[in-house]
Amino acid sequence: MKIITAEYIYIDGEYLKEYAVAFEEKIIAVGRYQDIIEQYPEAQLMKQLPHSVLYPGFTNTHVHLEFSTNRTTLKYGDFITWLYSVIEDRNHLSSICTTEIMLEACREMLESGITTFGAISSMGLDLDACVETPQRVVYFNELIGHNPQKLDTLYSEFLHRYESSTHYAGHNVIPAVAIHSPYSVHPSIRKKAVTFAKENDLLISAHFLESEAERQWLDHSKGDFKSFFENFFDQSRALTTIDEYLAEFDGHPTHFTHCVQAGEKELKKIAEENHTIAHCPRSNRYLGCGRLAIEKLDKLDIPFTVATDGLSSNNSLNLFDELRAALMMHGDLEISKLSRQLINAVTRDAAKILKLNAGTIREGYKADFALIQLPEDPKQEDEIALWTILHTDKVSQLYIKGEQLI
Ligand code: BEZ
Ligand code: FE2
Repeated sequence: MKIITAEYIYIDGEYLKEYAVAFEEKIIAVGRYQDIIEQYPEAQLMKQLPHSVLYPGFTNTHVHLEFSTNRTTLKYGDFITWLYSVIEDRNHLSSICTTEIMLEACREMLESGITTFGAISSMGLDLDACVETPQRVVYFNELIGHNPQKLDTLYSEFLHRYESSTHYAGHNVIPAVAIHSPYSVHPSIRKKAVTFAKENDLLISAHFLESEAERQWLDHSKGDFKSFFENFFDQSRALTTIDEYLAEFDGHPTHFTHCVQAGEKELKKIAEENHTIAHCPRSNRYLGCGRLAIEKLDKLDIPFTVATDGLSSNNSLNLFDELRAALMMHGDLEISKLSRQLINAVTRDAAKILKLNAGTIREGYKADFALIQLPEDPKQEDEIALWTILHTDKVSQLYIKGEQLI
């Protein structure tokens, strides 16, 4: 058994001083420093680092590792322009994306304190990296495609990828299902995959209302998607409506990504069905999709996470870069309260959304920790969340299931 302590320990939204945590693979006890060392005299006591803050490990619920080779290939600025460039370059980008490159991407996440991530896997090319990386991975096998002639093949390939991921269920890989989006998945196979996930009690992740163009296409079969679908797929009408898409997930809380263009009606439905949202501020900015009104999620009690998306729409997978971007994007929100909300989003809420016994420093939870060091002692405790976000690039220590990896 080990005992870890820090100047402050983040417990239930508060920063507690003179606290300590006894742990093995799981957290054994949390309490006052003196009580814990007296209770466990044989435990190995870790040295306290200066100006340190101990957090539960962070969770990044949405990342695409298979596009980790993109740097200066895909076009940013406008969603449809980006999508054209994805169609043009995705085979090349994924063909040069080796397991080693994907492991480097996982390492960047690890160094920023991410102990669990949700990998959206379009092709299954990232499975080896997800098995090898020390992090816990919710492996979202993604269904994509709508060509009526290919539906059986698309679905059986999806099932095959899902099956392959189940072989690693003991290796920190948790098999799950992703539906790419309302516009890219034929409703008939969407139904099959969602039913499969419901029957097997699997987590589902699904992109939803990312761009204005998506909304125009689904509402009116118009806008920038029209020429995209006519050019690539000889299709002139959307195959599903927003309401049909959302209704598919009824009764099965689903993790929707983006939702930037969701209106009052969709957000209410999301709240009623206990769905949740992955908010990707930099991806939304880089692809010209706009700002998700997180203050509306707050009012409706919709839990949300802050996620990096993939390097196909981002410049790093560092969670602190993402949190700093969120502070800038939501410039009208009070910065200190927002910081506390963001820290909560990437710890407790993100882990809860992925149904993990993690993300909280409490007895019985996984001993996943991210220890950061502020540049000096904080003068006010209620600013620690903000100062953590502003002053951290890399964590000083990191533990997963009690094992120290940094
Ligand atoms: C596809 O890969 O099938 C696809 C991608 C984007 C939009 C529609 C379909
Ligand atoms: Fe995504």
